[in-house]
Amino acid sequence: AQNTRESLYIVSQFAANFFEDQMWNSPEGKTIGLSYFKERGFREDILKKFNLGYSPDVWDALTQDAIKNKHAEEYLEKTGLAIRNDKGKLYDRFRGRVMFPIHNFTGRVIGFGGRTLKTDKNVPKYVNSPESEIYHKSNVLYGLFHAKKAIRDQDNCYLVEGYADVLSVHQANIENVVASSGTSLTIEQIRLISRFTQNVTILYDGDAAGIKASLRGLDMILEEGLNVKVVSFPAGDDPDSYMHKVGAGAFKTYIEDNRKDFILYKANILLADAGNDPIKRAGIIRDIVESIAKIPDNIKASVFIRECSSLLQIEERILLTELNTMRAAKL
Ligand code: UTP
Ligand code: MN
Ligand code: MN
Ligand code: MN
Ligand code: MN
Repeated sequence: AQNTRESLYIVSQFAANFFEDQMWNSPEGKTIGLSYFKERGFREDILKKFNLGYSPDVWDALTQDAIKNKHAEEYLEKTGLAIRNDKGKLYDRFRGRVMFPIHNFTGRVIGFGGRTLKTDKNVPKYVNSPESEIYHKSNVLYGLFHAKKAIRDQDNCYLVEGYADVLSVHQANIENVVASSGTSLTIEQIRLISRFTQNVTILYDGDAAGIKASLRGLDMILEEGLNVKVVSFPAGDDPDSYMHKVGAGAFKTYIEDNRKDFILYKANILLADAGNDPIKRAGIIRDIVESIAKIPDNIKASVFIRECSSLLQIEERILLTELNTMRAAKL
């Protein structure tokens, strides 16, 4: 019902205010949460812009305060902010974590990501809000509310993997950035981007998982009819770590100078481990044509076929035959 949804928004906003207040005003929040962000190199204006916060390291700090402020237990449970134990007692989902509120694109708080401060490998790095009546994670892009105007103005959307990446890219004065946080990229998220621009630039982590996710993501983006470019980062870096390593100015230059169209990006990755093996090279060509075959617009596809032809030294005619075969197989 509409009333329930509204109540879930209200308690989520209450929680965001609570975590934010804890981080800026409580001794524990300041010495643990705020210091954590500062040690990572985040500026205060960025922390405030994204309403970051801290959840105290006790069982039910938020729950107690919410109840004291007349929020019903039902809504704490439905948003997943509180969990009921075997004995029927509510406790906080987020404890001793730095908190990233997740806004929908109209700016309302709908969920949270909470990062641990521990380095213990057995503790999950991020805990996220569960699905609720107001939070469907496959339909949400972290940072979209703060990015949408810049995405329209720049006519491009940078896509990163994580919460911290969004903050760091903002800190480099680039505001058209969103993350598919907590889930691998979905069709719904791509459609959400397409309301603001037809151009996506992927900035995923420079590790095996990031590369794999970028290849999957670019095919999905092409299939939705959007244009896609990719910037890769040095092994072991993500946009966040790289920005703090090189600084805001050099970061901006880096992503402008290293933006590759998807053909060049795929070719670079795939050719690197094929060497001169002709069979492997043939496989790569097919792999690239497979991506081109996903582009709904024939004219665009033919432009990429031409590029592929000159890049890989294969006759255009042969690539077109392959393209048509693949398209026919899809129908
Ligand atoms: P990463 O493992 O790359 O984390 O996951 P990160 O964003 O670089 O985190 P920092 O810099 O160490 O703080 C990318 C994103 O995947 C989601 C989070 O949204 C994260 O930002 N994720 C990751 C989870 O939801 N849960 C996890 O346990 C790990
Ligand atoms: Mn719904
Ligand atoms: Mn990663
Ligand atoms: Mn990362
Ligand atoms: Mn990171």
